[in-house]
Amino acid sequence: MSTFTQAPHKLLVIPGPIEVTDEVLYANAHPSVSHTAPDFIPVFGDCIRMLRDILYTTTAQPFIISGSGTLGWDQVASNLVEPGENALVLNSGYFGDSFSECLRIYGANVDEVHAAFGTVASLSLVEKALKSRKYKILAFTHVDTSTGVLSDAKAIAEVVQRVSPATLVVCDGVCSVASEEIRMDAWGLDVVLTAIRRQLSLSDEGCPRDVLLRSWKKWLPIMQAYEKGAPSYFATPPVNLIYAFNESLTQITKRSPSLEERFQLHREASKRIKDTVAELGLKQLALDPAHAANGMTAVYFPAGLGAADVLPRLAKRNVLVAGGLHKDAKERYFRIGHMGVTVTDKQRGDIDTVITALKESIAEAKASQNVVENRARYYPALFPPRACDSHGARQCMSCRPPSPANTQYRAPVAVAARRRDSAFRKRGDRGERTLATPSDAMTSHVQHSCIMDNLIQGHS
Ligand SMILES: Cc1ncc(COP(=O)(O)O)c(C=O)c1O
Repeated sequence: MSTFTQAPHKLLVIPGPIEVTDEVLYANAHPSVSHTAPDFIPVFGDCIRMLRDILYTTTAQPFIISGSGTLGWDQVASNLVEPGENALVLNSGYFGDSFSECLRIYGANVDEVHAAFGTVASLSLVEKALKSRKYKILAFTHVDTSTGVLSDAKAIAEVVQRVSPATLVVCDGVCSVASEEIRMDAWGLDVVLTAIRRQLSLSDEGCPRDVLLRSWKKWLPIMQAYEKGAPSYFATPPVNLIYAFNESLTQITKRSPSLEERFQLHREASKRIKDTVAELGLKQLALDPAHAANGMTAVYFPAGLGAADVLPRLAKRNVLVAGGLHKDAKERYFRIGHMGVTVTDKQRGDIDTVITALKESIAEAKASQNVVENRARYYPALFPPRACDSHGARQCMSCRPPSPANTQYRAPVAVAARRRDSAFRKRGDRGERTLATPSDAMTSHVQHSCIMDNLIQGHS
């Protein structure tokens, strides 16, 4: 047992990468060994076996290939679809767009069933599309990381098997594997792809289906050899990462809490975060709780507030969350990741830390917002409405940095306000009568603030 502990750091609760345990980090620091060394081969082989356990499959062939989650799309596009063949993408957000784009680059004819913002693709539309055309694959994002919407993998696979059994079902599980239940065999999923910095690595089936394998033709004997305990080479695997991966998979499949308990812990943590969000009067992007991810939550900022008001306040409390990503609402929301060790090791108290930081930060941001609103109301000449550079004509406050405490300004400051930074600093013209000593925060506030007539317009 190692005594290694990682350096103190801010809590990373974005929807990937996520916090890792000391043991996983330490495993990554393994001394260099060859990828064909006798000691390393079973480490790789065990990863393959444990991946099957996590996805509840005895038949799928896991492929562990170095690269980020995006490589999974490339693997699917290059191995499963010939140029000119049809692919159906269930698009529930940013990652649906990107998967479609990737398939098109490889020459697939891509049709999409778009989900309304914050919802999943309608199964009746999926069925209609499958009846209208022969599709080689159907791909969907299990949890769309841009919105926190969770698709029903089982129900999607069921529709495909009923309506178009020859179509391969591809699940992008980059943001879901090991935090959401995925039963590959029982549900009839043909391919599940994922990424190590979220939870795991790349896994898929496809070989039993007589599809053209291209690079999988090369990879297949390598995976089979490692599993049998024999050395083999096609491309060098990232040996140290495989050690870390092995440790992570071992924790998930062989130690406490069990995989089933992990899913339950993710559901519980998710509920706590989502209840807090509701308590604070905030709305989630996911409109239907049945389709809200258990490993992350996407939340609209309070009316009139934006990333600059909330995220730095969370960071000040050592909690790092992610901003918005979906093109339709990027500036209007933020994302909290609650997966992996943050959820499964309650002793760390990570979820408590997030909840406390969230409550305090939102309260502080709102209090500061009141100061700004009052200032706009009582000193309209000093703080006139101004179009925001980022949002153009739609004046909003989301770009405004936190306001300073000092609000004791007198009327002549109108001159300074017009002159922005420089007038505050120089105290020129009539400016002698103006301010005490405005802080840098204040000057920058005046420079950037975009106070709108209707303070809450545009922020749900
Ligand atoms: C659902 C989903 N698919 C694919 C990707 C791409 O993964 P990567 O950024 O590791 O290439 C991401 C990244 O966040 C994702 O969330």
